Amino acid sequence: MRTRIAAGNWKMNTTLQDGIELAKAIQQFINNFPLESHKRVVLGIPFTHIYPIVQEVDYKHISVAAQNCAKWEKGAYTGEVSAEMIRSVGAHYIIIGHSERRQYFHETNEDLKTKVELCLKQSLRPIFCVGEKLDEREQNKQFEVVEKQLQESLFHLDAEHFSHIVIAYEPVWAIGTGKNATPQQAQEMHMFIRQLIAKRYSPTLANNITILYGGSCNAQNAALLFSQPDIDGGLIGGASLKTNEFIEIIKLL
Ligand code: PGA
Repeated sequence: MRTRIAAGNWKMNTTLQDGIELAKAIQQFINNFPLESHKRVVLGIPFTHIYPIVQEVDYKHISVAAQNCAKWEKGAYTGEVSAEMIRSVGAHYIIIGHSERRQYFHETNEDLKTKVELCLKQSLRPIFCVGEKLDEREQNKQFEVVEKQLQESLFHLDAEHFSHIVIAYEPVWAIGTGKNATPQQAQEMHMFIRQLIAKRYSPTLANNITILYGGSCNAQNAALLFSQPDIDGGLIGGASLKTNEFIEIIKLL
């Protein structure tokens, strides 16, 4: 059975104290209502919060993710944080290629390919983000764009390495805008991604890969999105910062 994931992306929000409160509240909910074994919560949190929050959550149900890592292994790159450092403080996932990183930090498919390799080398699971911009959807280029992102950053991996990837389809026009993709639009893209994986690797591998939807996902629209056959949960920004709302989303997994 595929793993279903409710992943929070806190972005550059929360002090450490606020973050610990939020993580503790989610852990408390899970203590009272343990998740089935194929379900997991992943908290994508700022670097500064990783080590302390890892101490607060039970890895059985909750994993911690970084939101980025350096594209170099180590060395004279002032201000950068390596995959190895992230692993050493107890994270198990890294969000790679979020559209905000692509847009504001000019990360290319080639950079992301390197980052994916560095993550896998540290046994960190990339949550690899793909998605088209508004003008690309308006020109009906969404499939082409997503295929290129997968081809150039992931499809060089062998099947064993690829099996550790989680994919997040996040249409850029839906991120932080309150305008989510319809369940049909999301399902169509998730199915397309799964077909590409089946073609490149195998139908079995395609069937086992977790594909999350992200972009204005909230407690109101998650039920319909998560009920689509190829949607295995969500990567949730704004709504993951509100304890009760994120808990509602976890319940819908
Ligand atoms: P949002 O962000 O849920 O606030 O739209 C999603 C994301 O950026 O991962």
